[in-house]
Amino acid sequence: MAGRAWYDVSPSAARLTGSLRDIGYDFTTAVADIVDNSVAAGATRVEVMIEYDGSNSRVLIADDGCGMSARSLLEALRFGTRRSYTQGELGRYGLGLKTASLSQCRVLTVVSRSSKSAVRTYARTLDLDLIEEWDQWVVTDPQPGELVDRARRWLAEGTGTIVLWQVLDRVLSEKRPEGGWARRRLESLAKRTAEHLAIVFHRFLEGLPERQQLIITVNGHKVEPWDPFATDEPATVELARQAFEIETTTGSGRVHLRRFVLPARDRFSSPAEFERLSGPLNWNRQQGLYVYRADRLVQWGGWGGIRGIDEHTKLARAALEFDTDLDAAFQINVAKMRVALPPQLRQLLEAPVNELCILADDTYRKTSRSTNRPLPVDVNTPPEERAATQAAVNAGLALRMAAMQAGHWTEWEAIEKLLREQAPDVAELLGLGPQ
Ligand SMILES: Nc1ncnc2c1ncn2[C@@H]1O[C@H](COP(=O)(O)OP(=O)(O)OP(=O)(O)O)[C@@H](O)[C@H]1O
Ligand SMILES: [Mg+2]
Repeated sequence: MAGRAWYDVSPSAARLTGSLRDIGYDFTTAVADIVDNSVAAGATRVEVMIEYDGSNSRVLIADDGCGMSARSLLEALRFGTRRSYTQGELGRYGLGLKTASLSQCRVLTVVSRSSKSAVRTYARTLDLDLIEEWDQWVVTDPQPGELVDRARRWLAEGTGTIVLWQVLDRVLSEKRPEGGWARRRLESLAKRTAEHLAIVFHRFLEGLPERQQLIITVNGHKVEPWDPFATDEPATVELARQAFEIETTTGSGRVHLRRFVLPARDRFSSPAEFERLSGPLNWNRQQGLYVYRADRLVQWGGWGGIRGIDEHTKLARAALEFDTDLDAAFQINVAKMRVALPPQLRQLLEAPVNELCILADDTYRKTSRSTNRPLPVDVNTPPEERAATQAAVNAGLALRMAAMQAGHWTEWEAIEKLLREQAPDVAELLGLGPQ
């Protein structure tokens, strides 16, 4: 810089904190980003409390993780926390605690204890009104009160952290934070939060090797994991696992693919379980790739541009797993809810995804055939004839897979269409079914 003039253009705290509120979180993803921090801090228990009390309504997220010293607590409240990360750590930007919280509330207080032996707690507050008034990046001691006392009491047992959101201006209307509407809104958010956490942290809730099982509660109710692949269902089929090496500017990293065809309704252990596995988006939109970053689910639904969603392939779901060394390649966003498939990976995924979809399509058609119209052979048909029919259906499936693997799927679809028009008996025998 020697000899050159320079000018200070440090950001306006008032403007920037305001803009950062709109970085793309909604309530459930904001809570999940706070829980990320708890997971990174080694917590085994996270309690989310969403409490209605008119304009004093609040959210508390308490964990029994390693906690923070006075110094690290202050650093934690800096936009762009100064620190480094090890591979597999969920944090990346040094922003989540602040941006997720302030996307929902105006006053964020963090209370923490890091000493195992001494009951020493620290509490600090980030108050949006104060930052706007002073136009300074400041943190204060919290206002004394019952909530901070309660947090301190929670920490009497051991280490941990409590994140407290107050003045929920983005959750409840500022004009009418009281009354039935506000109460119902918080109740419905609590329900949706539990559903969201059940999905994104399902692997931690089920238990991972080398990590103690995580327990999450929302308003006192234990969150049960939601495994998108129904691996407990006996009729779920898993195809061969695959791994891909992805080149990055700094080296390379591995991506793992696990593919599942879930059972059709009549092969599920119970109709209730089939409904449960339908998921928040329902079967059709819940098909597709489930992208995991360091075991935490970040994105799901749809095939990432590889193919469109289709009623016939709604039983197909696949886990795509990467570690934090591939963050840049996947362009993980700050809210940890969106990734972009690296172009080289998208190409590599085409064949295995199409193979999965063909099998899922087959499972779906078999069911719709058995429920909508009789099979060409009924139970009175001699066994050898039934075996022959099955062999023909298998031949049809093998032909479709060969066409797909050879990279001629579009041509094959044209052939199928012609067969259905010109030789419907053959198409039916091969299990191609009506389109
Ligand atoms: N519950 C917690 N227990 C212990 N330390 C925490 C907790 N929450 C936050 N921290 C500390 O505060 C830091 C800042 O958190 P913040 O969520 O803002 O950023 P990050 O997790 O580092 O990155 P990202 O923006 O990707 O979430 C963390 O890196 C961690 O050191
Ligand atoms: Mg974080």
